[in-house]
Amino acid sequence: MTGGARGLGAAHARRLVAEDAKVVIGDVLVKEGQALVEELGARNALFVELDVTSEVSWTAAVARTEEVYGKVTGLVNNAGLVHRCPIEELTEADYRRVIDVNEIGVFPAPRRGSATSSRRARRSPAARTGTRTSPVC
Ligand SMILES: NC(=O)c1ccc[n+]([C@@H]2O[C@H](COP(=O)([O-])OP(=O)(O)OC[C@H]3O[C@@H](n4cnc5c(N)ncnc54)[C@H](O)[C@@H]3O)[C@@H](O)[C@H]2O)c1
Repeated sequence: MTGGARGLGAAHARRLVAEDAKVVIGDVLVKEGQALVEELGARNALFVELDVTSEVSWTAAVARTEEVYGKVTGLVNNAGLVHRCPIEELTEADYRRVIDVNEIGVFPAPRRGSATSSRRARRSPAARTGTRTSPVC
């Protein structure tokens, strides 16, 4: 569950654990993610620090997931952000950050995973929660 430390991602994680899934919460918010794992129970959930814009971060997160739970069988691309500001204050860096997280961060979701799990991951469910691509100004 990317962006699972709070909000909708945390709600999805709670529901999945209630249905007996093992859930990995990947987020940049370490404290919130760890608190959620405490709430869900360490046998049901794992927190990994994940920045969805970083390939290195993805590789480490998937490796840790496989170490603890084995192959990844589903992915929810929930992480996303909206940058709210007056249009005259919007910088190119702000705009690029939104594109990086909301667009590049989900590309290409089925490829996420180790070499050994990539074929399986291609057949696995990958869900995307409906994020706007553009910042709201
Ligand atoms: N809440 C809504 O009404 C609504 C409506 C449409 C779409 N969405 C989308 O649903 C998703 C969740 O929304 P929410 O309201 O729970 O938002 P939220 O801001 O509460 O949660 C988003 C989570 O994504 C994480 N995140 C941000 N950048 C990240 C990165 N680079 N790497 C990893 N994690 C990162 C944040 O830390 C946060 O935990 C978002 O993609 C949002 O755009 C929400």
